[in-house]
Amino acid sequence: AIERTLSIIKPDAVAKNVIGQIYSRFEQAGLKIIAAKMLHVSREQAEAFYGVHRERPFFGELVDFMISGPVMVQVLEGENAVALHRDLMGATDPKKAAPGTIRADFASSIDENAVHGSDAPETAKAEIDFFFSAAEICPRTR
Ligand code: CMP
Repeated sequence: AIERTLSIIKPDAVAKNVIGQIYSRFEQAGLKIIAAKMLHVSREQAEAFYGVHRERPFFGELVDFMISGPVMVQVLEGENAVALHRDLMGATDPKKAAPGTIRADFASSIDENAVHGSDAPETAKAEIDFFFSAAEICPRTR
């Protein structure tokens, strides 16, 4: 089915100047960018976005990292977009990520792992709504 998923290019990858290289991978895989913005996430936003991880030992570091610089946030649309995007990203821990994946190529650690992607269609809907209003999403008509 045609799905939408939320993608975040995290502060480490923005700092490495590889936004375009990551976008190319999405496009080459057939995913369409139907919304995008750069923003500097606030502490409150980061804590809310990652609320499911609040009790995890890495929560504080995760929030500090996500607010350490600007991020690029985008909505990707395409056939099987959620799983396809996860395949392109590779495993959460770049040491375990398959060769040729975004995290294998651009991430330095499990904490600074270059990208985020929704893990299921239901979470994708919630994560898209977290960052984008309906008017900011531009489905392709051609
Ligand atoms: P992300 O997909 O953005 O979701 C939560 C983030 O927490 C994850 O990527 C990692 O960058 C970070 N993280 C740090 N330690 C861990 C861990 N042990 N397990 C899962 N995520 C972790």
